[in-house]
Amino acid sequence: MRETFSSSSGFALAAIGSAVGLGNMWRFSYLTAEYGGAAFLVLYIALTVFVGIPVLLAELSVGRGAGKGPIDAMKHFGGKRWSLLGVLFVVTGFLILSYYSVIAGWTARYGWESLVGSLPDNPASHFEQISQGIPAVIWHLGFMAIAVTIVASGIRKGIERTSLIMMPILFIVVLGIAFYGSTLDGAASGYRYYLDLNWKAALRIEVFTAAAGQAFFSLSLGMGAILTYASYLKKEESITRHALVIAVADFGVAFLAGLMVFPLIFALGLSTQIIGTVGTENDVGSIGALFITLPEAFKTMGSSGYWIGTLFFLALSLGALTSAISILEVNVTSAMELLSWSRKKAALLSGVLISLVGLAPACRIEILGIMDALAGNLFLVVGGFALSVFVGWKSIESIRNVDLSPRLRMIWIWLIRVPVPIVLSVVAFYSVMNL
Ligand code: PFF
Repeated sequence: MRETFSSSSGFALAAIGSAVGLGNMWRFSYLTAEYGGAAFLVLYIALTVFVGIPVLLAELSVGRGAGKGPIDAMKHFGGKRWSLLGVLFVVTGFLILSYYSVIAGWTARYGWESLVGSLPDNPASHFEQISQGIPAVIWHLGFMAIAVTIVASGIRKGIERTSLIMMPILFIVVLGIAFYGSTLDGAASGYRYYLDLNWKAALRIEVFTAAAGQAFFSLSLGMGAILTYASYLKKEESITRHALVIAVADFGVAFLAGLMVFPLIFALGLSTQIIGTVGTENDVGSIGALFITLPEAFKTMGSSGYWIGTLFFLALSLGALTSAISILEVNVTSAMELLSWSRKKAALLSGVLISLVGLAPACRIEILGIMDALAGNLFLVVGGFALSVFVGWKSIESIRNVDLSPRLRMIWIWLIRVPVPIVLSVVAFYSVMNL
């Protein structure tokens, strides 16, 4: 018998755990900083509602309907040819996890350094030292070992239990720091940057595509992670309710992350270090912006910085872990189904292979940047495009049979038939031109 999540809230927390991660705090903050604050935020919300949620519903419905991982699920509904889309999902997950765990490794290391009170005096050179080479490799491997252990323990005992413990801690910490940020002198200028709308900044194709890519990455769409989790969902669960809960929680944490990061960097006069860094400097400048700016902020804050810094990196590490296990699960479920491996064997061997590929981004941050552009942006969007065409145009009743009113169901189907594929193909085209 195939395992299932033991409860509705267990599934919800695991899926939220997949969505809420480095994307919400690290990627969202640096993209928002770069692309004009509120302008980016508004586009991101619109794209989450009109593109993200429809694709989320499609993934949930395919996964639950088939009760199988991505390759077998696509084969089940679409035949052999469509199983290739499942293969793309697995490859994308493999690549994303190999660099995601490197960044998660930096995060865990910063958490440890904050805890033992050894945050560096010169954050920029410290980041350069630890983000590449042996130190990055060690923390990357340690992080992967934890992810493998959790996934090897199973859906209920590993993934569900971890999410049940970690997600509430993450929510409380993020709320607490956002509240603390509001008490800082100078927080208002941070909020102003974050929430003041500058339409001119939003009307650039570059901002539009970055916001679409971020909506996808943040909701864990386009690589079968949500599809795979949904395949372990009991048949009687309402997937529409789950889609809403996941999207609201994911957006909520990203929004709160902004409320936590912007007051901090503005109150401490560090905004020039981060605003406008993406694409204008080298990869260390953009990818590392938060890892340089925030430790500096925490250091400047003295003893409160000690606590805030430790808790911040703790929350970030927990978010990264619950996302990483969902990506690993895509590979593990597929290996179990295709090769008839046991869960433990599948977790261990996929983990080892992903860790090995991850040595490249751990050794060179430029490779990490390229992998993020390729897998984290382009492949996800291509995967989401193909899935929405599949669900929209292949009239398979059991996939479309979602618990929506007939009118909303029609809107959903028309969204994934026309506007969603158009938006995603524009984003994919633009990402290819920018590679
Ligand atoms: N959604 C995760 C985050 O925001 O950090 C990253 C992610 C997880 C992307 C799972 C894709 C995925 F399938």
